[in-house]
Order: sequence, then structure tokens, then C-alpha cells
Amino acid sequence: MRKQIAAANWKMNLSQNEAATLLNELLSLPHSLQAHQEAIFAVPAIYIPLATQKLAGKSNIYVAAQNCHQKESGAYTGEISAPMFATVGVKHIVLGHSERREYFAESDVLLVEKVNAVLAIESTPIFCCGEPLEIREAGTQNEFVASQLKNALFHLSADQISKVVIAYEPIWAIGTGKTASSDQAQEIHAYIRSVFAEKYGQSIADQISILYGGSVKAANAKEIFSQPDVDGGLVGGASLVATEFAAIINALK
Ligand code: PGA
Repeated sequence: MRKQIAAANWKMNLSQNEAATLLNELLSLPHSLQAHQEAIFAVPAIYIPLATQKLAGKSNIYVAAQNCHQKESGAYTGEISAPMFATVGVKHIVLGHSERREYFAESDVLLVEKVNAVLAIESTPIFCCGEPLEIREAGTQNEFVASQLKNALFHLSADQISKVVIAYEPIWAIGTGKTASSDQAQEIHAYIRSVFAEKYGQSIADQISILYGGSVKAANAKEIFSQPDVDGGLVGGASLVATEFAAIINALK
């Protein structure tokens, strides 16, 4: 069975004390992860050492970065490279979140470089894709998402693509309280898998975990995750509440 993943995206939230409290609370709540299930915490980079220390020794729980620079090192003031994240034990890096595409002008061309940088350190890119509202209303979301995937990922080998995790996040559902229905999620997840199957073959496509993101919460996680092509979620707002995120972990199939 491919990996089922509950990934927390804290974005630019919480003080250090609040981050520690949230992790403590979460660890005190009942949560269980089977061998094919993972919980991943994409925390602000400055809290990676804290989170790593709190989560040390917990199996199938990982600390991730929310972004990285595309170069290995150099005169890029304020930036953090993938090899730097590797030195502090990071194994997953979120790339191409719609907020980075929108507010930091990240293009598909730049994301090619970032994907390569993350794979070069043998870490897992959690590659985000998803359409804005006007594209959904025009009914062209499949074409839109396919082009994001093709432009940023289709240069990879079959071996490399099988190491990538996809997060489908319709922009109109992020932080809005509007979730795609489980049928809408299943439909586009199945389509995304078919895009990979066409290029890399069905057996590679079947190995790729495709997470849904956009207003996932305890109350809707089980239904969304129960869809055959939905392999968990990338969770923003609800990942900042321990009881919510514990329930989301427990909703993984
Ligand atoms: P949300 O964010 O769960 O707050 O909608 C999801 C995301 O942006 O990853």
C-alpha cells in the first residue's frame, strides 16, 4: 500500500513557546501510525531543531521544511538551502505551495531547480499543485494542474518521480473553510494519477502518494481520506490545534 500521510503546514505561525506546547499536547493525545502511515510537521525553519528534539524516537513522524533555496550555498542572504536542511535531519521539503507561487513569484521553471535540489539530498519533495477559483469555475482544472505537473516534474526519471509526494490544493479551498467535496477530490486525484500513469506507467503512478489540501479538519478528514486516490492531507489551519491534528492523523486509512 502506498504511504498515507498527514502533513501539517504551520506556515508562518506560532511563537517558540506555542510551538513547543502544541507538540507536547499533540504527543499526549492518542494517535497511532501504522507502518504505511506517516505524520509530517512542516514547521517554520527556525523551529526545526525544537520539533526534531520533541519528536525524536517517534516512529513514522518527521519534521519538514516549508521551502528551500534552489542553490546549494552562496551569497543568498536570508535563504536556506536543501543541503543545510539535510544537515539538521530534514527528510521532506514542501515545494511550490500556492502561497509561494503567489507571494514569492515561484514559477514552474524555478520549481524544477528546487525539485532537483531536494532530490539531490535524497529528501522527499512534497510538491504542491492546484487551481485558482476562476479556473475551477471555467472547468479547466485538469488541464491547469496537468501543466503544473508536466512543467515542474516531467524531467524526472521514473525512480525519481516515485520519491515525490504530491499535494493537490485547490487555491479556493485554502484557508477559506470551503473544502472540495470528497467526490471532487477523488475525481482530480484520479486524474493526477492518470497523468503520471501516462508518462511513467501505472505501477509507478500507483506508488505516488497524492495528498489533498484545503480546509481539511477533523470533521471532514475521514471522508476525504477514504477516497481511493486520496492518500492523506496537507493541513494548514487545523494543524495548529492539537486535538484537530491528532484526529486527522487517526483518520488516515
Ligand atoms: P488550510 O491550508 O488547511 O488552512 O486550508 C492548507 C495549506 O495551505 O496547505
